[in-house]
Amino acid sequence: MPIDSLAIEERLNDVLFFIGVNFWYLFLLAALLFFLLTIKSFKDKIAKELELDKLNKWLSYLAKLERLGEIEDHLLNFKNYVEAQGAALYLRRGETYILQAQNLPDDGNVTVRLHTRQIEEGQKRVGAFHYFYLPSASRASLYLLVAKRPIEIESYKGFVEVALAYYEKSQSASEEHTISTVSNASKEVLSKMMKIHYTSDMFLKFMVSLLLKSLNAQGIILKNKNMPNKAIYFKHPERSDLQKRFFIRNTPYILELYRDTPLSREEMVEVGSFLDLAGSYFENSSENSRMIQNYLKFLRFSVKAIELQSPYFKDHSKKVEIVATQVAKTLFLSDQEIKQISIGAFLHDIGMIGKIEHFIDSQEIDQEELQLIRYHPIVGAVLVEPISHVYPLLAPIIKYHHERYDGGGYPFGLKGKDIPLEAQIVALAEYYIGAISPRAYRDPMSPEEAQKLILSQKDQLVDGGIIEAFMESLDGIGKKLRLLEEGVAHD
Ligand SMILES: [Fe+2]
Repeated sequence: MPIDSLAIEERLNDVLFFIGVNFWYLFLLAALLFFLLTIKSFKDKIAKELELDKLNKWLSYLAKLERLGEIEDHLLNFKNYVEAQGAALYLRRGETYILQAQNLPDDGNVTVRLHTRQIEEGQKRVGAFHYFYLPSASRASLYLLVAKRPIEIESYKGFVEVALAYYEKSQSASEEHTISTVSNASKEVLSKMMKIHYTSDMFLKFMVSLLLKSLNAQGIILKNKNMPNKAIYFKHPERSDLQKRFFIRNTPYILELYRDTPLSREEMVEVGSFLDLAGSYFENSSENSRMIQNYLKFLRFSVKAIELQSPYFKDHSKKVEIVATQVAKTLFLSDQEIKQISIGAFLHDIGMIGKIEHFIDSQEIDQEELQLIRYHPIVGAVLVEPISHVYPLLAPIIKYHHERYDGGGYPFGLKGKDIPLEAQIVALAEYYIGAISPRAYRDPMSPEEAQKLILSQKDQLVDGGIIEAFMESLDGIGKKLRLLEEGVAHD
């Protein structure tokens, strides 16, 4: 059959026309889609910025609240941005809050939906605050942890996980109008808590805030028998009656519970056993517990035993303690930090115990012996581990007391701010006492010579700021060292 070239051409034109028209349709469709997507991402961006702005304003407001009760009341009312259900967890009073953000798609009240992926993005900053997204144990919801200062979230990980699991259990328990689940949950959570280095005082506060939520109490006040004027208001009772006063066993605390409706007998028993559990934890982990104090006495006695090995080391630890404590005070560190620096300074060479102690004044040390000496900060840190939940700074102080700011120390060769401040204070104190004390192989320096030597090593030995504080503390140090010498002379 002859080929009708005209017909083919017409057909071809038809096809081209068809393709052309559809191309334009497709092009218009793609352009429309692109336009819609751009608008959407623009809208999302604006919405996100508005939300951040709102959060920022709210956080600034929160920062102005001072009473714990006020903060809690405010968090309870705060339902627009994040569904803050009770904000039951206070990691540090006035500094850190955990809010619950509902993440259930069917919940009509959802205003924020967060994805677990956001947790990996880590710490964010909104104004003066830092915040983290935290997954809950059940993954049903996410929490927002808000803190006034940057936090090493890794070091709180264990606590946060346990606390959130506990909080969720208490939430479901309160929905069932009973607190028995809370009490049961506390037993398993308690053992986990024990493994996490957290102060007993904060633990008790955490437990009480759970109680407040579970009992639907209108007010809870925690009073300390030893400090009658210092009551902790977990929630200020406005119009409710005092229902019951609980004495928390093994602690100096009395808990007053306010509610409109009387406590049932069952509730009273539950609260009692719940507080007993909190109290037993308090006893085992409190600084005043016999177990902790006996262990500390044993360590102090061991230090004395090491010092007795050499006449050159008599009162060495006590002198280092005097210098370090004075410097810590000049730096306006907290009472807790000063206390731990004092203990850490006294125990800094506890790792010399055992085989190492006979090297203490030796002039000739071989390589193997030198390795053993270089290992004593690590041995010491292991020895204080059993009490590190009460005194968390001891292990770092002892472990790093031979590190030098310029990286020339041992055993890790840490540099600059990688060396904890507390360890640097003790390192400087030991350096000074070492320099002004006689040794078998050299005469002592005069205090003035030693001070000059230290001043010439700003940011080499320790942070220059610590050296300045040391120079400011010299009067107090001199006075206390003289008193010690006099005491020694009267022995
Ligand atoms: Fe040492």
